Amino acid sequence: RIPSKVKLVDVGPRDGLQNEAAPVPAEVKIALVQRLQDAGLQGIEVTSYVSPKWVPQMADRHAVMAGIARREGVVYSVLTPNLQGFEAALPDRPDEVVVFGSASESFSRKNINCSIAESIERFAPVVEAARAAGIPVRGAMSCALGCPWEGEIAPGRVAYLAGLMKQIGVQHVGVADTIGVGTPRQVQRAIEAALQHYGIDAVSGHFHDTYGQALANTLAALEVGVWQYDTAVAGLGGCPYARGATGNVATEDVVYMLHGMGIATGIDLDRLVDAGAYISGFLGRKPHSRAANALLAR
Ligand code: HMG
Ligand code: MG
Repeated sequence: RIPSKVKLVDVGPRDGLQNEAAPVPAEVKIALVQRLQDAGLQGIEVTSYVSPKWVPQMADRHAVMAGIARREGVVYSVLTPNLQGFEAALPDRPDEVVVFGSASESFSRKNINCSIAESIERFAPVVEAARAAGIPVRGAMSCALGCPWEGEIAPGRVAYLAGLMKQIGVQHVGVADTIGVGTPRQVQRAIEAALQHYGIDAVSGHFHDTYGQALANTLAALEVGVWQYDTAVAGLGGCPYARGATGNVATEDVVYMLHGMGIATGIDLDRLVDAGAYISGFLGRKPHSRAANALLAR
């Protein structure tokens, strides 16, 4: 059941950098995207069309999207929480847009300022407009395992949100452990909940490493057949609306594990490590990746 190939979407430029307090110039983001595509990433989450008052770091999205030199075959995705975001994104020609809901009511309100039901009302016109433009829509399901305000989240809540997303025509759902509290069996139950509404080819995993569970959770998701994951180079990241949440699982660590298991990713680990060293150097710290630091120390 374990897949022989995995597709990774590096969310470093977006999920990774959105939480950085000091502005990262557009040229640095563009250079990071370039290094990720050169390393063989097939998907890159570049930026988000959200309120610059809420997330100032993503205010340069037009400059970043205009500056990237796209490589054939790579999917460049962006976050669009509502029609206003989608309309702003459309001229920048994203290959895919991401709506992001939450399995937890409290997090929905903190992150996107509306209830789960209202979020679906905001996403529906995005899906409609995206379909008219021929752009696929992915749905991120935040706090699918736990919420900073509500604690553990039951799989039924994931099934409920997945069902709502399916009804409005979202084509893919990502089971996201926003605050990195989940453990492997719990991850499998959340994925099985998503699978009540979506096929295995339309479900991905998005794990943060707050409690050091992200690689184990990735392996648990592989065991139930999930072959698509969001990861962030150098373990960048953290959500500004989820207190205590640390970075995404490091792409380097996931690639090291997958290649060791004989699972193909199309990624050149050495070049990926260079990409992580580049952005970490800019940020003035070491990569949050065990594999990257081990390889850099060789
Ligand atoms: P709102 O206040 O409910 O929206 O915000 P509104 O429609 O009432 O409009 C209020 C103001 O926001 C207006 O401006 C709008 O123009 C503006 P004003 O008249 O006051 O000057 N506005 C926008 N501006 C730019 N782009 C837009 C947009 N929409 C309205 N698209 C909104 C709703 C979603 C915009 C807001 O809550 C927001 O920006 N939230 C930030 C959400 C965010 O980016 N969170 C981090 C990403 S999610 C994440 O990291 C989790 C994930 O990685 C998976 C995981 O790990 O769980 C995906
Ligand atoms: Mg995230």
